[in-house]
Amino acid sequence: MNLPGAYLLTGKQKTILNHIRTILFLLFICVFVSGINAGTDNKIKVAKPAHLVKDTLTKPANVMRTPQELFVNCVKCHSIGKGKLVGPDLADVKKRHDSAWFIKFICSSDSLRKAGDTSAKRLFLSYGKLPMPNYNFSSEEINALVDYIDFESLKLKANPNFLDNSFSKRPPSNSWLFILCLLLILLPVMDLAFTKFVKIKYLNFILIFAGFWLLGKIVYEEAGYMGRSLGYEPDQPVKFSHRVHAGENKINCIYCHTGVNESKYASIPSTNLCLNCHNVIRYGTNTGEAEIDKIHNAVDQGKSISWVRVYKLPDFVFFSHAQHVRVGKIDCKECHGDVANMGRIQQFTDLSMGWCMNCHKKTNVQFNNNYYTLYEQHKDLLSGKIEKVTAEDIGANDCLRCHY
Ligand code: HEC
Ligand code: HEC
Ligand code: HEC
Ligand code: HEC
Ligand code: HEC
Ligand code: HEC
Repeated sequence: MNLPGAYLLTGKQKTILNHIRTILFLLFICVFVSGINAGTDNKIKVAKPAHLVKDTLTKPANVMRTPQELFVNCVKCHSIGKGKLVGPDLADVKKRHDSAWFIKFICSSDSLRKAGDTSAKRLFLSYGKLPMPNYNFSSEEINALVDYIDFESLKLKANPNFLDNSFSKRPPSNSWLFILCLLLILLPVMDLAFTKFVKIKYLNFILIFAGFWLLGKIVYEEAGYMGRSLGYEPDQPVKFSHRVHAGENKINCIYCHTGVNESKYASIPSTNLCLNCHNVIRYGTNTGEAEIDKIHNAVDQGKSISWVRVYKLPDFVFFSHAQHVRVGKIDCKECHGDVANMGRIQQFTDLSMGWCMNCHKKTNVQFNNNYYTLYEQHKDLLSGKIEKVTAEDIGANDCLRCHY
């Protein structure tokens, strides 16, 4: 393409003109592109986000709008849990006011303020006297909207590690010590046989002896753990947390483990018992609906939840909860640890025979039980002949009490 009047120019002038033309063209492109960018920047700042375009305010009043639709009006000035914007952070706002207040405030905050409501006045002052817009929402819509905000606030509190425990009773691994033993034994043997580096021979023998001594110690320790499962902490089919139930919500152990006072077994609650509460509580702070839905699915299908057993004595041992909890008045903590602070249940004691017997040796029998007036020791205790009666004294450490 030739520029107009180009035929008047010399070849050299034409090239210069071509250069100028190219530069002008590039400049034009630059301005155009930056113009588009500036435009989009402005859009983000001033215009509504795409999902805002649907104007919720012009819908017919008799159709109930969803809370999500309504909340679109609020995001310019409010966040949930991400801090103040123009207005306050709405996380947990449901705890700050009651339903009637929300209805009045959202429909017309200025009327509420003029009517003398102190919290509306205080808010207005602390937010630079910036009035909040009035919304023509129905009471039902506002209640649903506030519930929605509350629900979103709840999600912020989810802790993905809520099942973790702050302690572990699992015995430490001995593998490094074991390798050390092998070195302690092998190196001096090699030296004695081949390298002859250490001149004083008995030093080598001392090392070998130390190696075997350590090895023996490890074998003894490990044998003690064999077949036991101290610190065992399996994942359960439903993310059930004792910290949430017995800890934060202070539900009594016996509400769920109904057998502790009457029977050998403490018993694990049935899914129907869970429903006493979870028919209403359908949402968990940490797990949302997913885990509680598992309970409902199990009940609907007529199945039970297959909990993984943690504490288990061999079949040849007799143990009764009623004897210990009701008669012996022993706290669950003594044998199961601080369950109310456990996420997952963790085996807290090793359930060895020595553990049972040691406790019987040092724990006193609670003689404020009429049954014990039959015992010789009871009279002796009353007459001051003896100071205390331990479980062992009434025969709790006889082989046949536990093995039958
Ligand atoms: C133009 C900005 C703006 C918009 C949009 C807005 N608000 Fe507000 N909101 C405020 C301000 C500012 C306050 C502080 C109180 C005042 O100034 O009266 C407030 C206060 C509140 C409060 C009281 C908070 C507290 O901490 O007690 C609630 C609840 C509330 N707004 C809900 C909403 C809802 C729901 C919407 C959407 C339907 C909405 N707001 C839309 C600016 C806004
Ligand atoms: C809301 C009901 C509920 C409450 C309250 C409750 N538990 Fe449990 N408990 C369960 C369920 C369900 C299991 C089986 C799932 C598991 O092991 O986490 C269980 C398991 C256990 C186990 C392990 C059983 C096994 O597999 O060997 C022990 C021990 C236990 N609970 C002790 C307690 C103690 C102590 C308390 C009171 C501080 C308590 N529980 C309160 C429901 C409850
Ligand atoms: C003296 C120690 C001791 C005390 C106190 C004790 N338990 Fe146990 N618990 C055990 C042993 C041992 C087992 C394993 C029993 C077995 O395998 O037969 C067990 C098992 C359990 C189980 C597994 C299931 C079952 O039905 O037995 C639950 C649940 C349980 N205990 C809850 C409790 C609660 C709740 C308390 C307090 C009210 C409590 N225990 C007090 C030692 C104790
Ligand atoms: C006495 C009432 C009660 C009983 C019975 C009960 N729960 Fe719960 N459960 C609660 C409460 C309260 C919460 C906490 C809800 C929340 O996060 O706001 C809860 C929360 C939960 C959660 C969610 C935890 C989270 O933070 O996400 C699960 C899963 C759960 N329970 C399972 C069970 C199972 C399984 C049973 C039956 C063995 C059971 N519950 C029995 C009251 C109960
Ligand atoms: C925390 C201490 C403690 C631990 C641990 C303990 N016991 Fe006991 N046990 C007692 C006390 C106290 C009594 C006496 C209760 C009473 O009759 O007043 C008792 C009584 C008994 C009795 C009944 C004795 C009789 O009067 O006939 C048996 C059986 C028994 N325990 C078995 C066990 C077994 C099995 C274990 C281990 C798995 C165990 N106990 C662990 C404290 C303990
Ligand atoms: C207080 C209850 C109790 C008394 C009393 C008791 N035992 Fe035990 N015994 C146990 C428990 C609990 C185990 C299971 C230990 C384990 O699994 O590590 C056990 C395990 C055993 C075993 C099997 C060991 C193994 O590793 O398999 C033998 C054998 C045994 N006891 C013999 C005896 C003899 C003999 C006596 C009388 C001197 C006796 N017990 C008294 C609670 C008791």
